[in-house]
Amino acid sequence: MASRSADDQRAISRERFAPRAEGYRESAPHASGPDLELLLEWLSPAPGESALDVATGGGHVALALARTGADVTACDLTPEMLDAAGLLLAEHGCQARFVVGDALALPFDDASFDVVTCRIAAHHFADAQTFFTEAARVLKPGGRFGFQDQALPPEGPSAVLTDAFERTRDPSHNQSYNVDGWITLIERAGLVVERREVVGKHLDFADWTARQDCDEACLAELEQQMAEAPEGMRRWLEPEYDGERLVAFTNRHLVVLARKPA
Ligand SMILES: C[S@@+](CC[C@H](N)C(=O)[O-])C[C@H]1O[C@@H](n2cnc3c(N)ncnc32)[C@H](O)[C@@H]1O
Repeated sequence: MASRSADDQRAISRERFAPRAEGYRESAPHASGPDLELLLEWLSPAPGESALDVATGGGHVALALARTGADVTACDLTPEMLDAAGLLLAEHGCQARFVVGDALALPFDDASFDVVTCRIAAHHFADAQTFFTEAARVLKPGGRFGFQDQALPPEGPSAVLTDAFERTRDPSHNQSYNVDGWITLIERAGLVVERREVVGKHLDFADWTARQDCDEACLAELEQQMAEAPEGMRRWLEPEYDGERLVAFTNRHLVVLARKPA
């Protein structure tokens, strides 16, 4: 894939997410899961701590943070996503500050948060390294960074084709990395990785593709890519079939707790 400029990537993301905000607010795989539980357990925010959720989407991490009593700021590029997130928190009697902003140039002062999170989003950024550097900048010394994103399989060809599979379903998917790749970028930003775990998220193929309004041609292309997938990609995604039809697979998500040195 030819690399996209940051402006192009932002435009593609906004265009993709603006009309689909409600789908992300209502999405079961976003609303819960072992990855979200692990993030909260590892971060364990204290009441009153300041927490920033970057690329908040439907607001599921912001809600989980707000429930702990943290003072939450939810940031996203797409205003419609922030509206959906606001509705989600209001429905649960929780509050947060909602700020339109780019993960690559966070509109916050240096050292202003105890906790920064980013879940299922960094693969949309034109430059994940710049985002991790921004996350480190806005964290207070000693502050915690909770990260979760899709992890690619370790083998090169399977990694490239798994990333392409994601991009076929959602053209605003820019780039994922394997576990070592994500960890390298986080550490290069000066954050110290304290914990990491890869968790499986079982995805219903029909639900996963409906969230991005995939048409018949897109569905056929995804099924073909999975049918022709190399062994490493099949082992990683564990496709499940009902006869010939692809009905589910398991996405691997890396969960990380990192700390800004005090
Ligand atoms: C899949 S959703 C995030 C899911 C959400 N974090 C959760 O846990 O439910 C991806 C979000 O990333 C946002 N996004 C994409 N590029 C961004 C950027 N450069 N800066 C901030 N937000 C961005 C999109 O607008 C979208 O709301």
